[in-house]
Amino acid sequence: KASPRIRQVIGSAIQHLHDWARENELTVDEWMAGVELINEAGRMSDDRRNEGQLVCDVLGLESLVDEITYKLATDASDAPTASAILGPFWRKDAPERAMGDTIVSGIENGDNTWMHGQVTDYLTGKPIEGAVLDIWHTAPNGLYEQQDPDQPDMNLRGRFTTGKDGKYELYCLRPTSYPIPFDGPAGKILQLLDRHPYRPAHIHFIVTAPGYKPIVTQIFDRRDKYITDDAVFAVKESLIVDFEPLKGNPKADFELSYDFRLATY
Ligand code: DHB
Ligand code: FE
Repeated sequence: KASPRIRQVIGSAIQHLHDWARENELTVDEWMAGVELINEAGRMSDDRRNEGQLVCDVLGLESLVDEITYKLATDASDAPTASAILGPFWRKDAPERAMGDTIVSGIENGDNTWMHGQVTDYLTGKPIEGAVLDIWHTAPNGLYEQQDPDQPDMNLRGRFTTGKDGKYELYCLRPTSYPIPFDGPAGKILQLLDRHPYRPAHIHFIVTAPGYKPIVTQIFDRRDKYITDDAVFAVKESLIVDFEPLKGNPKADFELSYDFRLATY
């Protein structure tokens, strides 16, 4: 028996799809081209590649749904940290690492960065103990570890747990901008619309803590050329950060300070 919610959502999708076909006087050939695109996305997808999600992302759908779902997480500085899309490259069970460790392995040409900050309760400002920061980003070649046979398994990923003071610190890279995979249907849509496939340089996070709502987010490098033109529309003002030059630390050339504010249920 269909739930009222399912009846509502699918019924509404049918209505809008029919209106869309009528408004555009969609032809059989055009509709079949769409069917083929959906089938191709399915054929390309496996546990390393989620082409259906990529297609939705270039249409702005994941960003829109993120915005609708996490209304509370606005850009205001007294709000919980803003959310951003998960994207297709998160992996579960990233290695648990000790505070202060690096997530970088076997990469010589990266801009090593000392990243640090605090996880707090957004209402009380109190530090949150036992918060887990799950971080992932690409190598300088623009590839996530699972896309790149030259990187060790789980490279540029890690999970860090805060102590009593809610603070975290780790070493990562200042990321680079790179294209989303454009050799499939998502790339085809971009090309048909004369759009580029680049995302501004970003680092992904999922921050969780007992008793708090998880935050899925990304931070973006202010100086990136694509900062106002993300192929998947995920940038929010409060998630834009500055990588500062760092002197006197043999392990890093840049410093990045960022705090995360969580909300209770
Ligand atoms: C998408 C998101 C990412 O974070 C990324 O690195 C590539 C693609 C996406 O939303 O499609
Ligand atoms: Fe990404």
